[in-house]
Amino acid sequence: MLIEAQNISAAIGGRLVLDGESVQCKPGIMTALVGASGSGKTTLLHCLGLLLPVNKGSILIDGNDVTRCGTASRRRFWRDHAAFVLQDYGIMDEESVAFNVTMKASIIGRRVSGNKERLLHSLDQTGLKGRENELAGHLSGGEKQRLALSRAIYKDAHILFVDEPTASLDATNRRMVIALLADFAARGRTVIVSTHDSEMIAACGAMHQIGSSSSSH
Ligand SMILES: Nc1ncnc2c1ncn2[C@@H]1O[C@H](COP(=O)(O)OP(=O)(O)OP(=O)(O)O)[C@@H](O)[C@H]1O
Ligand SMILES: [Mg+2]
Repeated sequence: MLIEAQNISAAIGGRLVLDGESVQCKPGIMTALVGASGSGKTTLLHCLGLLLPVNKGSILIDGNDVTRCGTASRRRFWRDHAAFVLQDYGIMDEESVAFNVTMKASIIGRRVSGNKERLLHSLDQTGLKGRENELAGHLSGGEKQRLALSRAIYKDAHILFVDEPTASLDATNRRMVIALLADFAARGRTVIVSTHDSEMIAACGAMHQIGSSSSSH
């Protein structure tokens, strides 16, 4: 899926955070959103993911203007097409690692359901194999980040929104995460990554510097 921001502006708490940003994120390519801390990378990622409304400009998905689409359409987009690995990881601490990946449980005994093979594969990919029955709250920050990535791998969404995926990882895990995201893109997915990490940026096929868009179109 092709996702585009056309000349968008976004204000948070009355302050203009994004001012005329335009970016095209293509399928099969990993696009880096870069800029200094506080420049608006997370905000732009959230606008592209329809998590945050824009004040001006448009968001297009496969050429369709979705800027003003309603809650039901946005929910459908999140459910059917998008996966998010956000800065707070979105991990449910009171649930098991396995539940955090599949997000499915049977009512009886709260046994985790979903596709077992895919669950194990997605944990294996992020180095968390064998940890499926642990409480997610007991994982370290970096492990939670990788768990969030396992959830995205399990879902195998068309568009992956990732905020600073390598921020709290050591060199080995950083490389693993970069390779995983690059593999997502190589399989035709649209991968959008906010990052400061030069290795991550180097692995991206496109880069958007916040504040560099011409706001004249
Ligand atoms: N919920 C909020 N309420 C008030 N201001 C906010 C909120 N979220 C973001 N901001 C402000 O918007 C600006 C951009 O924030 P954003 O999180 O997009 O930056 P960033 O480039 O992702 O930074 P970092 O690299 O530190 O993650 C910051 O000045 C921040 O203070
Ligand atoms: Mg951020």
